[in-house]
Amino acid sequence: MIIDKKRELGQFFTPKGVADFMATFFFDQRRTVNLLDAGAGTGILTKSFINRLCLSQNRPEQIKVTAYEIDSILIPQLMETMSECKRICEDIGISFKAEIRRKDFVEDAVRLIRKNGATPIDLKFNAAIVNPPYKKIKSNSKSRLLLQSIGIETSNLYTAFLSLIVRLLNKNGELVAITPRSFCNGPYFKSFRSDFLNSMSLQRIHVYESRAAAFKDSEVLQENIIFHAVKEYTQPDRVIISNSLGKPDASVSMHEVKYTDVVASSDADQFIHLVLNELNIKAKKLMKRLTTSLMELGLNVSTGRVVDFRAESFLRKTCHNNTVPLIYPCHFNGGYVCWPKIDSRKPNAIVDSAQTHQLLVPSGTYVLVKRFSAKEEKRRIVACIYNHKKINAPFVGFENHLNYFHNKGNGIPLKLAKGLAVFLNSTIVDTYFRQFSGHTQVNATDLKSLKYPNKATLEKLGDLINLSGWNQDNIDNLVKMEVFDGQEKHKDSSKKTA
Ligand SMILES: C[S@@+](CC[C@H](N)C(=O)[O-])C[C@H]1O[C@@H](n2cnc3c(N)ncnc32)[C@H](O)[C@@H]1O
Repeated sequence: MIIDKKRELGQFFTPKGVADFMATFFFDQRRTVNLLDAGAGTGILTKSFINRLCLSQNRPEQIKVTAYEIDSILIPQLMETMSECKRICEDIGISFKAEIRRKDFVEDAVRLIRKNGATPIDLKFNAAIVNPPYKKIKSNSKSRLLLQSIGIETSNLYTAFLSLIVRLLNKNGELVAITPRSFCNGPYFKSFRSDFLNSMSLQRIHVYESRAAAFKDSEVLQENIIFHAVKEYTQPDRVIISNSLGKPDASVSMHEVKYTDVVASSDADQFIHLVLNELNIKAKKLMKRLTTSLMELGLNVSTGRVVDFRAESFLRKTCHNNTVPLIYPCHFNGGYVCWPKIDSRKPNAIVDSAQTHQLLVPSGTYVLVKRFSAKEEKRRIVACIYNHKKINAPFVGFENHLNYFHNKGNGIPLKLAKGLAVFLNSTIVDTYFRQFSGHTQVNATDLKSLKYPNKATLEKLGDLINLSGWNQDNIDNLVKMEVFDGQEKHKDSSKKTA
């Protein structure tokens, strides 16, 4: 019951250390503060914000807080927190008012936005601090329809909260939010990103390096970021990117990067890259030089079609007459698939029958990429080759925890497959990938959005890896020499000819 409610209302409460840290992100300059805390819980974010203002050199004269909370159980504690804030402020001569709205923030915000349209009114806030609830919004739900009625198209409550807050802020209003980093990339959040980046100027992004760092709760499955943005229609030249491991006392490293390194002006998808350090900047610069799309290579990437629990009755421990190989991540072994793995808990084969045939792909060479990396794995992208010459079977099944690169549903030439696997396994690609993907998942759409070396370069990598062997240093050296230094050479020689 409690767990259901927690999920239903997206209740992951912010630890005090994180709330205090968020409060330090705000600029320190207003005489009058009109703060919005949407989805306030017990009010921890407001309290940290007020403490921070009270300690600052440049204290405001008055503060008004509007806190929304839908869960009536939390209201007494929220009221208690507001009374405490009032006491702290009034002790040092700051006037303090709080209004608690026991309402659905989406409904109320849509009502206010509709009622007031573009006219600035005193309800508009100049500061907002939020840890919005994370929950999918169904396409036919009341919230979704309300959001659509004011032009907000989004499928998650957390981005809905952010879009509404942006509209309720006045010009120069500041927003500090802790959210999953999933909105930074991927097609689902494209319209949110565009809406957000058109009205808000990103000032700082803080990245927690481990998934459960900010919330010590095993149910929080995504990496979290804190960001600070100001309502302005132009982007700054530079953005601060900081990161830490997440423990309250962990050191924070910080650096400034060009805004265009975070969101490239040429990127129609407006991916937000979390460029953490020199290595990240370098990886991004190098990857930006690549121009070949998967389509131009004549390739595509899809998610493995065999969802094992749905096909359970067709799975077999070992191969028999009527079965074909079934490949799982456990079959990865260095650069190649090692099959069968009899000591594994996973099946090795699937029955090829009328019911399962559409789940299989024809025999051939495929590059496989794990969709979920294991904790002990250093890299997020782990690629390996399924080579039909080593496994004699007319068809093969790739389980749903894998992505597979193919050519219109068929295999690809071995040399190209090897080059592609080398490239994908390189540290540069992995470093670049981590900047825009906070998931532990590697989705086919993410792999489609990457740019690749051209076919000749990939084939050369494929040739050379035979000579050097699949260890990380060899892979990285080959990719450096053939893909990136090679480009430099090419650029230099074309400059000379010009
Ligand atoms: C992620 S929690 C954050 C709570 C608190 N701000 C914190 O940082 O600890 C989100 C809060 O939003 C509340 N909430 C969920 N849906 C809401 C809605 N539609 N309107 C108002 N509050 C909502 C939940 O009850 C929960 O307290």
